[in-house]
Amino acid sequence: MKLFIDTAITEEIAAAAELGVISGVTTNPSLLAKSGRTLNDVITEILSLVNGPVSAEVEESSAENMYRQAHEIVNSVNFNPNITIKLPMTEDGIKVCRRLSSEGIMTNVTLVFSVPQALLAMEAGAEFISPFMGRMDDKYADAESGFKLIKKIAEVKRIYGYKSKIIAASIRHTAHVEQAALAGADIATIPFKVIKQMYCHELTENGLKIFRDASKK
Ligand code: G3P
Repeated sequence: MKLFIDTAITEEIAAAAELGVISGVTTNPSLLAKSGRTLNDVITEILSLVNGPVSAEVEESSAENMYRQAHEIVNSVNFNPNITIKLPMTEDGIKVCRRLSSEGIMTNVTLVFSVPQALLAMEAGAEFISPFMGRMDDKYADAESGFKLIKKIAEVKRIYGYKSKIIAASIRHTAHVEQAALAGADIATIPFKVIKQMYCHELTENGLKIFRDASKK
């Protein structure tokens, strides 16, 4: 499973990129607001930090305006092939997904919460689809709702041979990363805080201490 970082904060992206295991970035309007920067201001910098797909979300809601904004974003980064247009899982979003996909522009259909939604996005040629794990768990008060959703979408993808890559999104903790991997997600997009938790384990720290103490003797 590939690992993306889910943030618009360039310092976090740069620090995570140093690990050498991050192959893409996802942003959204909430993450941009948190970073205190605008999409236009930050997107070129993000593209220079990671050599992989970078999702930039349209904020318009009609098909016509989303399509126009998508092209503005693509133009603003000089047609960088890693730019990925993030579109909402709506009727208009699906229409724009089909249009952009046919033009060879990568798309990421976001806010996916069901298999039928995933089917629409995959049929529309989405390069990526983003089911939200944390928000599924919040809504259905079941710590495995997100896991089950990804597992079902991965199974449908396998049966029909869809090419869209599943990005497990709305990841809140390392258990979600584990569930995403076991459910068959192609990618998990992970907040910086959770990436840092991924290399920690109490027994690793204890073990290291034991070895270091032994080597001093
Ligand atoms: O990847 C989508 C993510 O940024 C949303 O996360 O925690 O607001 O559900 P959250």
